[in-house]
Amino acid sequence: MASSSSYSTIHHITFFLFLFLILSYQTKRACASSSCFKSIIGFGDSLADTGNLPHLYPSEPPLFFEMPPYGETFFHHPTGRCSDGRLIIDFIAQYMGLPLVPPFYDGKNSSGGGSVNFAVAGATALPDSFFVSRGVEVRHANISLVDQLRWFKDKFLPKFYHKPSDRQNFLKASMVLVGEIGGNDYNHALLGGKSKELVGTFVPKVVGVISSAIRDLIKLGAATLVVPGNLPIGCSATYLTQFKSSNQSDYDPKTGCLNWLNKFARYHNNMLRAEVDRIQKKHPHTKIIYADYYNAAMRFYLSPHKYGFAKGALAACCPKCGPYKVDTRVLEGGAKACKDPSQYVSWDGLHLTEAAYRVIAKGLIKQSYTIPPINSSCA
Ligand SMILES: *[C@@H]1O[C@H](CO)[C@@H](O)[C@H](O)[C@H]1NC(C)=O
Ligand SMILES: *[C@@H]1O[C@H](CO)[C@@H](O)[C@H](O)[C@H]1NC(C)=O
Ligand SMILES: *[C@@H]1O[C@H](CO)[C@@H](O)[C@H](O)[C@H]1NC(C)=O
Ligand SMILES: *[C@@H]1O[C@H](CO)[C@@H](O)[C@H](O)[C@H]1NC(C)=O
Repeated sequence: MASSSSYSTIHHITFFLFLFLILSYQTKRACASSSCFKSIIGFGDSLADTGNLPHLYPSEPPLFFEMPPYGETFFHHPTGRCSDGRLIIDFIAQYMGLPLVPPFYDGKNSSGGGSVNFAVAGATALPDSFFVSRGVEVRHANISLVDQLRWFKDKFLPKFYHKPSDRQNFLKASMVLVGEIGGNDYNHALLGGKSKELVGTFVPKVVGVISSAIRDLIKLGAATLVVPGNLPIGCSATYLTQFKSSNQSDYDPKTGCLNWLNKFARYHNNMLRAEVDRIQKKHPHTKIIYADYYNAAMRFYLSPHKYGFAKGALAACCPKCGPYKVDTRVLEGGAKACKDPSQYVSWDGLHLTEAAYRVIAKGLIKQSYTIPPINSSCA
């Protein structure tokens, strides 16, 4: 009896050991062949929102980007993305061999288990109260980075990951994309007529909020964070239109972009990069990667034709809408589509086309516009 029982125990142990070896071998193989990450967790604004805003704030009539021609290129219908097709986060997911990142607010409560996105179009880094006290009107979403982090901690994690060790494993196996965020903190204020001197005082506060989000995520178990900087906003058709100048020395002769606005974006980016470096030194076992959206994008502003942008990089595509061809009706949902958005950088004056986002994402993943570079064997 005893000997038969111990035989059976050893038999079981051997069987489970064998199973364990096969499983762990397969897991290793799966990781090496597809991706270093099991999922992507996203935070940010309209540069990264894959469809939260329409479910978070259902609107009748629908918001401008919930109607065609938005989404026409890849999805063939509007998805809540502010572009004709995929965004940078979509291309990153595809390069990593992962499914597209679903919005947390998808109308179905279904985003559990894998990638999840908390980015909301119009979101700011700082809370609403900051802008109210400075007389800045924040249109569309009233959502800050702090709100997004709260949804992640208080709604998402407890619902899908009950044990602390499961939460940590999920975070550890994910690429956490913190941004782009902060652009709207400046957009609302600058386009609303506040001086660049006043808006410059927002920068340390914006970087402070992003920094605190990064540190919270590290505490929760994040092991790889990607932190994007701002785009060269001086090249944006909306900014170029609103801040048109008769003084030629306000423009960069190589690109036609507004110098002072690009300098503003670089001011934010330099401060963010320094903060990322500082946090990295304190957390040597965490990889914190700065994603250089500014210089990845600057390539097509310098040589649009080289990247296939036959119509140049600055103007949108409304033929009778002023020098930068921005159709304000796009924002109201009434504009005609560009015939071929792949020839343009600017989609609606503020957001870029899928073609432009693809160039930026490719720059990040394949041409080391990330500091330090993303491990190329992960893509
Ligand atoms: C999603 O979940 C929340 C709370 O967990 C609930 O209030 C809401 O009704 C759910 N929505 C759907 C569409 O199931
Ligand atoms: C934004 O949200 C905050 C907190 O939820 C609220 O106190 C504030 O009134 C809201 N502001 C607007 C303009 O809706
Ligand atoms: C034109 O802009 C440059 C730099 O932006 C400035 O130094 C110069 O004073 C401006 N000239 C005029 C006439 O405003
Ligand atoms: C890159 O990823 C591969 C596969 O996961 C790993 O073996 C290698 O050590 C990584 N290289 C660096 C520099 O992290």
